[in-house]
Amino acid sequence: MKELRGRIALVTGASRGIGAAIATALAEAGCHVALVARSQGAIEKLADDLRQRYGVETIALPVDLSDEGQVAAMVEAVIERWGRLDILVNNAGGGIYGDMAGLRSDDLHATFAVNFFAPVAAMYAAVPHMRSQGDGVIVNIGSIVGKFPQPLGGGYSASKYALHGASGAARAELKSENIAVVLVCPGLTDTEFAAHSRISVPGVEDMQGERHAPLRGVPVERVARRVVKAIRRREREVYITLFDRLIVLGAQLFPGLFEWGLLQATKIRRRRFAESRRQTTDDRRTKTDD
Ligand SMILES: NC(=O)c1ccc[n+]([C@@H]2O[C@H](COP(=O)([O-])OP(=O)(O)OC[C@H]3O[C@@H](n4cnc5c(N)ncnc54)[C@H](OP(=O)(O)O)[C@@H]3O)[C@@H](O)[C@H]2O)c1
Repeated sequence: MKELRGRIALVTGASRGIGAAIATALAEAGCHVALVARSQGAIEKLADDLRQRYGVETIALPVDLSDEGQVAAMVEAVIERWGRLDILVNNAGGGIYGDMAGLRSDDLHATFAVNFFAPVAAMYAAVPHMRSQGDGVIVNIGSIVGKFPQPLGGGYSASKYALHGASGAARAELKSENIAVVLVCPGLTDTEFAAHSRISVPGVEDMQGERHAPLRGVPVERVARRVVKAIRRREREVYITLFDRLIVLGAQLFPGLFEWGLLQATKIRRRRFAESRRQTTDDRRTKTDD
């Protein structure tokens, strides 16, 4: 899809972070963009901003992607407005923290609802339109931890493994109909992802978001630029940095050594979490005393 000017794009999770950057980069390339998230104010503001800056058409669709009915309605709203959908970017997602064997079932289901079932439902709704157009690109935002397990983030990792599997299958099934499926595997990216992640550890759920520092990684604009390039070239699988690519390769080539690294990472993450918990409890005690 070399020429993006005038194309119709839908980006989920466009209220902040990577999704907002992808929506911006697509608008800059001349696409008309539908922005999807639950935070209505944020997507309306970005939609106005993109209209003014780039002279494209935009719509803001407040949607809770964990409700599959709303996912189908979101695609229909785009078809109603523009009569077609050229680019679907399944970006929205959320993390979940906790030991795999200790995760609460409802937390795990909620994570899979947004990270896995919503992208699949969006593909289900979008593909018939792309098929009748004879063209389309679907971008699924996975993760490097969909390539190797993330200790204490196993629920998140598993949801990305599932999305990676679905992406590969859909790519093979849809290629002959000129519909490309691009899997993007970012590594650490500078967003508020951690602050919005679920904590599924019995007794500390109420710490939600209190003790997470923002992630320090690559800037979202870099991810967005790479995504736009991948859409133009209809690429298969995309990494953002050489480090991301090497760490995935290392996990595949040296599984024993990699597992030793994961054990060390688990110990460090446990220590950091215990420290956060202690500080949060102390802060709360101080506030109560005041
Ligand atoms: N940051 C990283 O280091 C990193 C690394 C690898 C992969 N990723 C992936 O990149 C994607 C974007 O992450 P990010 O870092 O930009 O995180 P973020 O800043 O937390 O943004 C997440 C986006 O998803 C939306 N969202 C979450 N739940 C939703 C729901 N139920 N319905 C509708 N929208 C929902 C949020 O909007 P509302 O809250 O307004 O609904 C927000 O726009 C995710 O798929 C994530 O797994 C991130």
